[in-house]
Amino acid sequence: KMQVYYSISELKPKLNAIKKQEQTIGFVPTMGALHKGHLSLIESAMNQNDTVVVSIFVNPTQFNNKEDFENYPRTIEEDIQIVSHLKDKLMIYVPRVEDIYPNGLQTIQFDFEGIEHEMEGSFRPGHFDGVGSVLKSFFKLIEPNKAYFGEKDFQQLQIVRKLIEIEHIPVQIIACPIMREPTGLAMSSRNKRLSEKQFKEAALIYKVLTEVQADFGIKNVNELTQRVEETFEANTTLKLEYFIIADEETLQPLKNKEKNKKYRAFIAVFAGEIRLIDNIALN
Ligand code: PAJ
Repeated sequence: KMQVYYSISELKPKLNAIKKQEQTIGFVPTMGALHKGHLSLIESAMNQNDTVVVSIFVNPTQFNNKEDFENYPRTIEEDIQIVSHLKDKLMIYVPRVEDIYPNGLQTIQFDFEGIEHEMEGSFRPGHFDGVGSVLKSFFKLIEPNKAYFGEKDFQQLQIVRKLIEIEHIPVQIIACPIMREPTGLAMSSRNKRLSEKQFKEAALIYKVLTEVQADFGIKNVNELTQRVEETFEANTTLKLEYFIIADEETLQPLKNKEKNKKYRAFIAVFAGEIRLIDNIALN
């Protein structure tokens, strides 16, 4: 039977027993309101490890906006239901705040070598210090062999890679592709808050990204950016926060294309109060 653990003192002895048998542990950190994007990470983890730990924790320190934190969907009973068929290979960890933040809700100030200042970092001050702090704690408590992150939050993925490098954390980071709704909208826990109209209109985000991808070889960055901005100006439901084409590795905005570099288009859009992000590989 699948077990749910509500504190590290319950979970740790189980993990130690697993490690003693030289079995591997896969870790999937989440903030809950589980959807098919999360499930695809869990599935990969199940295929590649003996045991999988899924954490569900709405991390207060990574929210720069109080309303966003308070309105973030919390559906713990449903979440447990959704994964209950995965049985004993899966452990759910719903930590207490004290497990993660034994010294109170303070964050570490990280130097992620510049990537924390781009895009999400500049529009959500302190966000990546919160993400770095919570994940550093989780990695220390769980000591997984592999940890799974979605490309949906591509900048977060690069932050995590930097985190384990600078903190010398011995975990392998596995990147997983973006899962989408039939409309193309990237799946997200925040989608649960969209009205029917907003949900339909939000398909524009992926539509625009695929158009940029198609034209990346023939149009320059300014032309592409301008067209995206005009498209959103003409839409009354969605408000563009940023559209940026950046180097996949450094996340620096693209100025002049270089042959051996990979580029991605990144976008953040508001539907009312609800903030949606997405990205796409361009080459
Ligand atoms: P959360 O938004 O719940 O996402 C948990 C993981 O699921 C992240 O790695 C995210 O990139 C991935 N994910 C979300 N939507 C996805 C989609 N449509 N396709 C593929 N993967 C998707 O990201 C967080 O939580 C938090 O910042 C966390 C890492 C748990 C730290 O608090």
